[in-house]
Amino acid sequence: MENKIENRIEELLNKMTLDEKIGQLHQSGVSIVGAFEVSFEELINMLTDGRITPKEFEEYMNNAEEDFHEDDIRAGHISSFNGVHGAEKVNRLQKIAVEESRLGIPLLIGADIIHGCKTTFPIPLAESCCFDEKLWEKTAEISAEEASSLGIAWTFAPMIDVARDPRWGRISEGAGEDPYLVSKFAVAKVKGFQGEDLSKPNKILACAKHFVAYGACEGGRDYNTTDMSKQKLHEVYLPPFKAAVKAGCQTIMPAFNDLNGVPCSMSKYLLKDVLRNEYKFDGMLISDANAIQECVIHGAVENRKEAALSCLSAGLDMDMGSNCYGEHTKELIESGDLSIDELNTAVRNVLRVKFRKGLFDNPYFTNSKREKETISNVKFRSLAKESALNSIVLLKNDGILPLKKEMKIGVVGNLAIDKWETIGAWAIMADGDNCISVVEGIKNSKNDVLYEKCIEDGKLIEDQIDKVCSSSDVIIAVVGESRDMSGEASSRGDISLPEIQQALLKNIVKRGKKVVVVLMNGRPLALSWEDKNVNAIVEAWHLGTEMGNAVSDVLFGDFNPCGKLTATFPYNVGQCPIYYNHPSTGRPAGKSKFTSKYLDMPIKPLYPFGYGLSYTTFQYSDLRADFNNQNLEVSVKVKNTGDIDGSEVTQIYVQDVVASRVRPVKELKAYEKVLIKSGEEKELHFVISCDDLGYYNEEMKYVIEKGLYRVFAGGSSEELLQVEVEL
Ligand code: BGC
Repeated sequence: MENKIENRIEELLNKMTLDEKIGQLHQSGVSIVGAFEVSFEELINMLTDGRITPKEFEEYMNNAEEDFHEDDIRAGHISSFNGVHGAEKVNRLQKIAVEESRLGIPLLIGADIIHGCKTTFPIPLAESCCFDEKLWEKTAEISAEEASSLGIAWTFAPMIDVARDPRWGRISEGAGEDPYLVSKFAVAKVKGFQGEDLSKPNKILACAKHFVAYGACEGGRDYNTTDMSKQKLHEVYLPPFKAAVKAGCQTIMPAFNDLNGVPCSMSKYLLKDVLRNEYKFDGMLISDANAIQECVIHGAVENRKEAALSCLSAGLDMDMGSNCYGEHTKELIESGDLSIDELNTAVRNVLRVKFRKGLFDNPYFTNSKREKETISNVKFRSLAKESALNSIVLLKNDGILPLKKEMKIGVVGNLAIDKWETIGAWAIMADGDNCISVVEGIKNSKNDVLYEKCIEDGKLIEDQIDKVCSSSDVIIAVVGESRDMSGEASSRGDISLPEIQQALLKNIVKRGKKVVVVLMNGRPLALSWEDKNVNAIVEAWHLGTEMGNAVSDVLFGDFNPCGKLTATFPYNVGQCPIYYNHPSTGRPAGKSKFTSKYLDMPIKPLYPFGYGLSYTTFQYSDLRADFNNQNLEVSVKVKNTGDIDGSEVTQIYVQDVVASRVRPVKELKAYEKVLIKSGEEKELHFVISCDDLGYYNEEMKYVIEKGLYRVFAGGSSEELLQVEVEL
């Protein structure tokens, strides 16, 4: 099969003109040509700064005229589109490429299908809290099913940037701070999108992004610089990409940032040495939007022509949006600055993924009938609910939860009734009107709920607060971030709740009312006041289509929460970046002043990685660990000591106690989520390969050292049993 594809590629390549080859490296957008009074750029600005809602934007777009550059498709100058969807539209463009261009090379239609298509699943940071690979895979599978019915053959997902600074808004798009967990997430998503047979009509190409260390941007500021040792790069930021490539991921997107002074888009070290030579990646690389042109702004090259040369010769195959390749490749070849071999390699990589996706044999893999039957199929809602339920993390509970249905419930906060706010960042296809708001969800379980916004135009509305407080036993305050406060270009310097929401909570608490905070947000927040002063905190993130129903089931005890945090919640933003698996210091925080700590805030986070409460309790005992045949074998008993059944994520961490380089205080190496009935005890067994216990030494050699290892087990990175074992 693979040989056959390589033969077909060579056959085609031999027939291609220089222009047709260059055309295969060009991804185009759709140009918007009118139907509204402002320019398209201004319309995007209006959307970005909130002057128009996503819904209004969609309405404008529906009435706009679009230019698909059909003559360019016909001439073989366009390889791919970002931003076209709909079976009819895509098939019409595909027909031009396949039937009217000289060589009939099909278009590859890409889109950001990040956490669902029309049916929206929880944002990835939320979904990662499920610790459930099967579920992660299933949501990707349904996303692929829906997206492909719209003619999309390729998603720019999964985003697998390890992220340890919650100021960075894009922490919402990934699976948190831990390389092991993010790698598991990466593999599940690649499998879900691509399936066993990628050429099937309902499978789509995955794209692991952003390669690499984008999550380490300084100060948590989006697009900012990154600088780190090769050891850290290979131990923390690269493993998810290595895992994605091993799982067969077909495309990869270099990141916007520079790493150690070289923009990732033009880094020979990253794209050739690491990806192609070390990981044996044979798929296609696509730039991030306009990133090739941005090498000029980085000051790493002088002009667009040099940018094209540097990126192409570093091995970046397709240009998203900047058209530097389109404009300059011909002259680069003619001048001899770029060899035809380098160009041919890039073209082969593009054609290879088109062949693997089956586009040459089945370019029209969807039609309007399939689209209609697939989109927002009600059967997908149960998966949306299952993933939403499992993503919720219970952060605090003084015993008030679960609420009793006979209680008088008041709900406050603007986010509580907004269907569109449930979908979170990067949900470009989502149908917010089809989502269940928190208030709707609560009403679905219980009819008599009093809702008052209590905030309008940035001010508290006292009479609404009076009304809701005087007629309710408990107030559910839905607070957090609107969906444009996380995601791309949404870094925050202060990650506490917006001031007006804090004022609302303080006002209600002062009246002596019981308060349950339901958080909707796209990043860890700093919640030290809330933790001290409210009765319960439910981290509900942006959960998508079934948000309201899932939140309601947790609030009333119809579902026992089991999510565990995958990114540390700091006590205060001043602790950031913060993550559990940090290297040991020579002066760990202690009583003495001269130890690693702050004068004005605790050293510990508010809620650590792996943390999450349940309505029952679990007790760990009998932790054993042994090295056996190149494996570390671990067993531990977990007992459900409460009155109700519950699922628990048991986590196994390992520390290499003495090593030739300073090692992390602990690192997640295995986990398992199991349902344990009330009163029941289960013994869990884990096998960790010794290959996973190594690290890169001073000479960048991966070593697994003999000596003492500490093994930890428990239900959070900070509450652990431990034993020591010698390798
Ligand atoms: C983002 C990518 C995304 C691309 C295409 C960029 O701004 O960084 O993650 O895939 O846009 O829409």
